[in-house]
Amino acid sequence: MSHAEDHEGTRRDFLYYATAGAGAVTAGAAVWPLVNQMNPSADVSALSSIRVDVSGVEVGTQLTVKWLGKPVFIRRRTPAEIEDARSVAIEDLPDPKAENANKPGADAADENRTLDEAGEWLVMIGVCTHLGCVPLGNAGDYTLDGNVGGWFCPCHGSHYDTAGRIRKGPAPRNLDIPVAAFDGDELVLG
Ligand code: FES
Repeated sequence: MSHAEDHEGTRRDFLYYATAGAGAVTAGAAVWPLVNQMNPSADVSALSSIRVDVSGVEVGTQLTVKWLGKPVFIRRRTPAEIEDARSVAIEDLPDPKAENANKPGADAADENRTLDEAGEWLVMIGVCTHLGCVPLGNAGDYTLDGNVGGWFCPCHGSHYDTAGRIRKGPAPRNLDIPVAAFDGDELVLG
């Protein structure tokens, strides 16, 4: 890689970070009051299982809740995100495993990452598998058509695709998927 290319890459990453940062503040302001109501009170915070009402999560948006002290991303994907994630060959993935606690041993095919068969619901621990920063949503640059999507970790530049699979950067594994299941409109974590 020439010096010029290297410089361009660095600048591009910075721009994504700046843009995504502004978006994250806006989204956070809207989402956190709701999340705070849903978070368990201190006396039940040791519970390993929580229920989250996801009926208000619209297609193309993400709700972040705190569970066992960690952020959990609950994303309702668009048809374009699903299509993008499903058109990737497993051989092209740095981590070929699903990293899905609901499907031990499964490969990283998009179908093995989502909670429903249609692939609309993606639930992941929002902790970068490199050194533990929280990746930013809608901020990765790894989609097949070159659009911005997936997640980007600003700490050392890891890009995750629209299925939360590591595609570029130092993170060694796909974002982890916790034990989760639907019960009507509620998502049960743990
Ligand atoms: S902690 Fe995410 S890239 Fe290092």
